[in-house]
Amino acid sequence: MKRIVIFASGSGSNAENLIKFFHNSDNASVIQVLTNNPHAKVLHRCKSLKISALSFNRIAFSKSDDVLNVLRASKPDLIVLAGFLWKFPEFILKEFVNKVINIHPALLPNYGGKGMYGMHVHKAVVANKEEKTGITIHFVNENYDEGAIIFQAKCKVLASDSAEDVAAKIHELEMEHFPKVVEKLLLNN
Ligand code: GAR
Repeated sequence: MKRIVIFASGSGSNAENLIKFFHNSDNASVIQVLTNNPHAKVLHRCKSLKISALSFNRIAFSKSDDVLNVLRASKPDLIVLAGFLWKFPEFILKEFVNKVINIHPALLPNYGGKGMYGMHVHKAVVANKEEKTGITIHFVNENYDEGAIIFQAKCKVLASDSAEDVAAKIHELEMEHFPKVVEKLLLNN
């Protein structure tokens, strides 16, 4: 059984979708959720779904081995960043080479980088009158949103779409594709 650990910072709809998708799987399961935000809704979701969850601060994450030691103990086959907003430390990436992936709510390399997350991305897409946007699932490296791309899916942006409309389309793409891409990656490794 492959082991998935999720990092999330906010609502956690992707985390919940992944947890449910793998709930009855013989191949993989989400064993733990880690968050930098002790008030994140994802913690409530984990409680309802009976999934172990922990929150941590910056010292535990990037100034000590505390989170690294949690990961060493959990032995994940894949670490999935699902709406996780802190930069992932290089010293953790070094121990989990090609095992950390992220989902981004745009077609990278467009609309990536520091500050480009959540509604900020969709507002920029609408402001620039883009005709399409989408999602990108990619490996994580030491730079924001720059690791090798694993998967992209696109959707149309209509001239009448608000940022909220775009967010809804992206949410739909994320719910449909993210678990399948995670499953495929785990089965191929
Ligand atoms: C998702 O749309 C995800 O793609 C995005 O945050 C949202 C989290 O929603 N991630 C980024 O913007 C990363 N740069 P969720 O907490 O409901 O899963």
